[in-house]
Amino acid sequence: MKYTLKNELPAPEEYCHLRQITGLSPKTIAAAQVSLPRSLHAVTLRNGDQLIAMGRVIGDLGCHVQIVDIAVHPDYQGLKLSRVIMENIMDFVTKECHRCAFVNLFADVDYLYQKFGFVDSVKSKGMYLDWNRVSQS
Ligand SMILES: CC(C)(COP(=O)(O)OP(=O)(O)OC[C@H]1O[C@@H](n2cnc3c(N)ncnc32)[C@H](O)[C@@H]1OP(=O)(O)O)[C@@H](O)C(=O)NCCC(=O)NCCS
Repeated sequence: MKYTLKNELPAPEEYCHLRQITGLSPKTIAAAQVSLPRSLHAVTLRNGDQLIAMGRVIGDLGCHVQIVDIAVHPDYQGLKLSRVIMENIMDFVTKECHRCAFVNLFADVDYLYQKFGFVDSVKSKGMYLDWNRVSQS
């Protein structure tokens, strides 16, 4: 592969930019600065210096683990680069996480994840906090 794959964090600025151009929900630089160092695992793919794809794993390694920030730069989509990212992430998950860990994700596109063993949640429904419903104190 002509691109460089590394297990490293992206800079907060390029992380926020990649999320923005791929249509993922926007994050502030300040939030990224708090978030990124708390990753269990991160993978970046670069063309030269340019960040073209990434993925992260967050959680506690033992009981709860979440896969987040799977994103491929629009100029590089359709090249199956997300598989490279997911293979790296699954290698980490299968080697490092306890077999009883609940490994989950919110899938915008489920075909990316089914081939790695992810299934629809039937028993429990995924939910998230709507900050507009939380009063500020
Ligand atoms: C979703 C995203 C990560 C996909 O990355 P990509 O590298 O462009 O993916 P590709 O289109 O090359 O396809 C990846 C795989 O899905 C398959 N695929 C693509 N479209 C498909 C479809 N409609 N149905 C089934 N499989 C499909 C491809 O064949 C390929 O399979 P393979 O790796 O097993 O050969 C990328 O488009 C992206 O960053 N989108 C915006 C952000 C986003 O939605 N992230 C996911 C959040 S859950």
